Amino acid sequence: MTQDELKQKVAQAAIKYVKDVPIIGVGTGSTVNYFIDYLADFRAEIEGAVSSSESSTQRLKKLGIPVLDLNAVGPLEVYIDGADEVSPHKHLIKGGGGALTREKIIAAASKTFVCIVDENKTVDVLGKFPLPVEVVPMARSYVARELVKLGGQPIWRENYITDNHNEILDVHNLSILEPKKLEAIINNIVGVVTVGIFAERPADIVLVGKGTEVITL
Ligand code: A5P
Repeated sequence: MTQDELKQKVAQAAIKYVKDVPIIGVGTGSTVNYFIDYLADFRAEIEGAVSSSESSTQRLKKLGIPVLDLNAVGPLEVYIDGADEVSPHKHLIKGGGGALTREKIIAAASKTFVCIVDENKTVDVLGKFPLPVEVVPMARSYVARELVKLGGQPIWRENYITDNHNEILDVHNLSILEPKKLEAIINNIVGVVTVGIFAERPADIVLVGKGTEVITL
């Protein structure tokens, strides 16, 4: 199977977690796009979705699924989202698509976070995928210098502005042996909005498209 076919398969497998869930948390990315397309099949039963990005919002609306404000709906039962890397502890790197802040908010506000990935995303140690860090624009250089002190090599994602009007630094060359610790340290740098390590609030369930199967971690 191609990577795209695996994404599609794992997206389809996630549908069972949202059956009978009236309001669904929806992430961002190419895997989630497939999931949104599958949601369309039973849109009549869905009260609405809370979306983690403008791009997912557009896709949901196009399919006739109402997009709701998280502030108006309280805790969510289920959040479905992809990831850029997944460790055996269900710790994640996210933000390749730039939506990490809203993704982290929805993950925090959800009872169950189901992460959907293809087998290429599973790793033993996080950090091969450059770690996205969303920063307030005026703090970008300062934060970059602090990240260098931590051993990383931050690269400015040029010509890219997040949905929250901030910028992204992609940090290369980090071997993230203690994800919770590094998440807290980077979160604590002034000017950082969100770091793309999801360890304090990891995924609860990870569905991995592997070969012809979907494996549940
Ligand atoms: C978006 O900001 C990311 O966190 C995505 O969840 C992640 O990049 C996975 O994207 P794909 O499903 O496109 O690989």
